[in-house]
Amino acid sequence: MIALGIESTAHTFGIGIVDSECNILANEKHSVATEAGGLIPRELAEHHLKHAKPLLESALEKARVKIKEIDLISFSQGPGIGNALSIGAVAARALALGNKKPLLGVNHCVAHVEIAKKLTNAKDAIYVYASGANTQIIGYETGRYRVYGETLDIGIGNLLDSFGRALGIGFPAGPKIDEMYFQAKEYVELPYSVKGMDLVFSGLQTAAERLVGKADEKDLAYSLMHNAFAELTEVSERALAHTEKGELVVTGGVAASKALRKMLQEMCEARGAFFRVPPFPACPDSGLLPAWLGVVEYESGIRMKLEETIVKPKQRTDDVEVTWLSKK
Ligand SMILES: [Fe+2]
Repeated sequence: MIALGIESTAHTFGIGIVDSECNILANEKHSVATEAGGLIPRELAEHHLKHAKPLLESALEKARVKIKEIDLISFSQGPGIGNALSIGAVAARALALGNKKPLLGVNHCVAHVEIAKKLTNAKDAIYVYASGANTQIIGYETGRYRVYGETLDIGIGNLLDSFGRALGIGFPAGPKIDEMYFQAKEYVELPYSVKGMDLVFSGLQTAAERLVGKADEKDLAYSLMHNAFAELTEVSERALAHTEKGELVVTGGVAASKALRKMLQEMCEARGAFFRVPPFPACPDSGLLPAWLGVVEYESGIRMKLEETIVKPKQRTDDVEVTWLSKK
């Protein structure tokens, strides 16, 4: 089976094509990059609309397939920004209807988890999904992917990008401040905020931004990341302990951070858990995510009528009944 997936939850519009073993045949995408920060929904929609057709054409060309040879069209149904999601949904419906292909709308967060699971051969892991808009600690339990802990305000990637803007680094800031992390000399005192199993980053962001120009930039970058990643690591460790699962997988765009991977790996080694990271193309937002979850759901017998493919901007990870696992 060959599946084409369309991603448009936030600043990235992507077309991914995978086969039934999750071999990546094409992964074409384009993202809105803002210097000033913030995503304006109307501008996202205009960006996605502008790039949809050329990305579709180049994805089909790279995969060396014709649209007739695609067996399934899937797209990210939610969560995300409504205007942006709608462009992906309309593109997916048009492709499916025009070419008489089955159509599935899938959950974006579950898609991150399922492709990470497939490409790391994880069996029953705790997943750390760390991206711009989302930060969740997820694990499968009795028919759903449960969220054991999550950010109560901004995503961890958003924290890094906002701080990068305060330093005058372009977007995305992650790669540059990740280098600064390893060049720092000393820790600067900053807030550390864990609420039960949940995380709060806005106080850390404000405190770090107030010190820009007063403290060494590398030390500040190190301290901000150290606290944010330690909070995430602390909650991930408690999720492992609570569920007695023996594997941890990190995914999402922030999985690119060497600093985060190092901290999670050290925690896993200390408690004898396996630590896994998927190949990087499968971590950030892309069309590969809905393409692969489409395959998983379709092969488990899930089908959708057109009226069921409405976008769901507020759909939660744990809203989705994971019937493909609970049937096993
Ligand atoms: Fe994402």
